[in-house]
Amino acid sequence: MATIASTCQLLFSHKTTVSRSFERRIASRTHQRCLVTAKVAKQKSSSVATAPASLEIAPDVATQRGVSSPVLLECVLVVYKKNVLDLVDVLADFRDDAADLLLGKKVTVQLVSEELLPGTQEPKMSDVVPISHWYCARDRIEASGCITHKVQIVVDKSFGTVGAVRIGNAHPNEFFLSTFHIVQPDGTSAYFTSDSWLHPTAENCPRIFFRNKVCLPGNTPLGLRNFRARELQDIQGDGTGERKDSDRVYDYDVYNDLGNPDNDIELRRPVLGGGEFAYPRRVRTGRPPTQTDPRSESLPPGIDNMYVPSDETFMREKNSNFVGDTIKAAAHFLVPAIKSVYRRDKSPYFQSFEQIIALYDDGIELGQDVSSTNANEKKKLRNPFTLINQLTDTDKTNNNLLKYPLPQIIQDDCESWMLDYEFGRQTIAGLNPMIIKKLECYPPVSSLDPKIFGPKATALKDEHILDQLNGLTVQEALEANKLFILDYHDAFLPYLNRINAQEGKKTYATRTILFLTDRGVLKPIAIELSLPAATATGQRKNRVFVCSDTPKRDWAWEVAKGHVAVNDCGYHQLISHWLRTHAVMEPFIIAMHRQLSILHPIYLLLIPHFKDTMTINSKARQSLINASGIIEDNFTPGKYSIELSAVVYGSLWRFDQQGLPADLIARGMATPNPKARHGLDLLIEDYPYAVDGLNLWSALKQWVTDYTDIFYKDDASVRDDTELQAWWQEIVNVGHADKKVGWTDLNTKANLIEALTTMIWIPSCHHAAVNFGQYAYAGFPVNRPTISHKLIPDEDTEEYKQLRRNGEKFYLSSFSTKTEATQVMTTIEILSTHSSDEEYLGTRPEHWTSDKRVLDAFERFKAAIAETEAEVMAKNADPELENRRGLVNLPYTLLAVSSSPGITGRGVPNSISI
Ligand SMILES: [Fe+2]
Repeated sequence: MATIASTCQLLFSHKTTVSRSFERRIASRTHQRCLVTAKVAKQKSSSVATAPASLEIAPDVATQRGVSSPVLLECVLVVYKKNVLDLVDVLADFRDDAADLLLGKKVTVQLVSEELLPGTQEPKMSDVVPISHWYCARDRIEASGCITHKVQIVVDKSFGTVGAVRIGNAHPNEFFLSTFHIVQPDGTSAYFTSDSWLHPTAENCPRIFFRNKVCLPGNTPLGLRNFRARELQDIQGDGTGERKDSDRVYDYDVYNDLGNPDNDIELRRPVLGGGEFAYPRRVRTGRPPTQTDPRSESLPPGIDNMYVPSDETFMREKNSNFVGDTIKAAAHFLVPAIKSVYRRDKSPYFQSFEQIIALYDDGIELGQDVSSTNANEKKKLRNPFTLINQLTDTDKTNNNLLKYPLPQIIQDDCESWMLDYEFGRQTIAGLNPMIIKKLECYPPVSSLDPKIFGPKATALKDEHILDQLNGLTVQEALEANKLFILDYHDAFLPYLNRINAQEGKKTYATRTILFLTDRGVLKPIAIELSLPAATATGQRKNRVFVCSDTPKRDWAWEVAKGHVAVNDCGYHQLISHWLRTHAVMEPFIIAMHRQLSILHPIYLLLIPHFKDTMTINSKARQSLINASGIIEDNFTPGKYSIELSAVVYGSLWRFDQQGLPADLIARGMATPNPKARHGLDLLIEDYPYAVDGLNLWSALKQWVTDYTDIFYKDDASVRDDTELQAWWQEIVNVGHADKKVGWTDLNTKANLIEALTTMIWIPSCHHAAVNFGQYAYAGFPVNRPTISHKLIPDEDTEEYKQLRRNGEKFYLSSFSTKTEATQVMTTIEILSTHSSDEEYLGTRPEHWTSDKRVLDAFERFKAAIAETEAEVMAKNADPELENRRGLVNLPYTLLAVSSSPGITGRGVPNSISI
């Protein structure tokens, strides 16, 4: 009893010490996170430096192990305990220590040789060695919260190379294994792939971690072959049961959890994927169906409980969790508070552009202490102001004042955003520069079925644009590649009757014709606004607005441009951003974990580009794209938003057109030319997204080529790679099962390189181009309104006269209300923010591989990436390239790779984490 009592006293005193340091950690958590890498790196180097002195074997150690030629190996584990990373469970550490000390339930380490036991098929393994003094290790807690444990293991000289390590965890709680390395007798270190949550393991089933030395399946050392296969089986699961937080199972499901019909039948949403609507698959959670609709999956209890495989969650401070939490905080706490403030106003609309600009100085005084609302939820979800303060410039002195930074589009000039040339510039250097197409014929032709959607009539005629063509005929302008189109006609028309039947939502399907001037800039010259027939036998309604070039502002033209922007904003958020990056990536990620071993070279290549995406997608399903979530409430398609993305996925998306060169060619914006730089001629030479993007594409493709050359000798070695082929088959037949076109066989090195380059391009460059400029351009809501509330009145009406008399007021009353605008501003401010530990293209953590051939190739890649950034800056400084800055003086930096933390309008992270 005395022993137990004194032990508890010891534990308690340690706990007090930890609690004090714990508070300090909370106080400076963001700063600490950015120190983690540096601390761990420092720790590693010091371990290596002191290694030889610590490797003397005590005389009794070899005797105990009974080995004839003993070799002492020192294993170094850097771990984060659960209570450091999960602030909710502050007693976890105490329970672990008690189990370790009082019950003898230990964390154990066992080494696995690359060789088999001689004359058998059995793996050669060391003794299982427990980590001693687990509870005393808190004396060694770094400021970042990590702790280093060391274990000495003796093996015989004939043991061979250590290829893996098995770690058992008999504690009640999980811990995060940040790094694991072995200091060898000669003082060098061998590193193992870790970065993983280690949940409690069964006695005979410790987790295995492989050395950071990859190989194709056929080259796997004999001693590791069974472990390689078994590890994949564990991750695949058996497709049944509800997933628990501790699971590492990757499996597929359809999108059937966006609705909430048990709460309100109006919140029922169709199943996307596997039936009426084609869609990429998401990770399976196995939650039970709703009571109202057996095809829909019920929501998890609380707002912080959506399953993702445990290694996808990483740490709470990491981008995906931290920023994701901020999104949830905004959705659940700030949005209701914003609505409450504006509910008291006489008019829901801004009264002038100046009133919007004043918002950046004044902020919004939220009339209640938001941080005190809903105490239970607050325990699970940290204070929204704390989160936003850490991420943004929210006023830190007033807990109820929500402030917004001045968006870059109006930082230099408050007027130029509305110019026609700026409208044209944003189609090639804005947030959504991958929609504009070369106009192949005039008037444009719809591809919608006339039996369903009526005659392909258009109101556009030659006389609408002839005056704007610098003396060319329409045919001459087409042949000179001078005419372009921003065409949302076919995407929106089929949905317009349903969209416009929703309360307060009125919009068009738009087509905008743009002319490329001799200066190389784009000018919108005609806009067609289309409405479908209201009845099966009715007539479609098409109206055309033309650019007038008069000194006096033509407000009807400006409102028409506003409706184009509403189409563009919806398409940008739902298709270019959500569908083409977040949603399509998830099946690639699931399939990789299920079919490619951590030992596989392609796993090692892709893993930095697949990190955090499943986590942020799960948070988006809860707070952004869910029924009555931020997207549905503030974008014109409303409840049809994600359904619309499913229609585009089914009809237009194809994998072989997601790489930049293929995309440019498909849109007619470039033509192949083997002699040209990057093998393409651009129709618009000063096309900032394409110019910067092609530089990055070529750098990526060269890196992928150099990397695959190391591991694949020829096409046959690609075909013979069983894991690679299983991965690709699962992507095509399961993860993207609804898409039957757009896939190539993975049977040559060339096809493999193209597919891998595309798979890296999407989460890095494509996502950066559409994500990190959101606040810069759309943080000023009238530049990119997300929603429209009324149509343009007919010319012979009193309302049309009002439009002419007070155009600014009419404009403001047509689009986002104050509530809608500020909700979107709050959301995109978070989405546009880089966290302090962002990992950018061309960077990887230390010790990611020990293969010198790979490291040399990666150095060349880093140099190529740096060159692309230098070229971005040089081009932005060239006054001849008018599309790089425009009259708003906003340089195109969305594909400049590096960035500091915060809202910078630049930076290309490795993966989609926001
Ligand atoms: Fe994103």
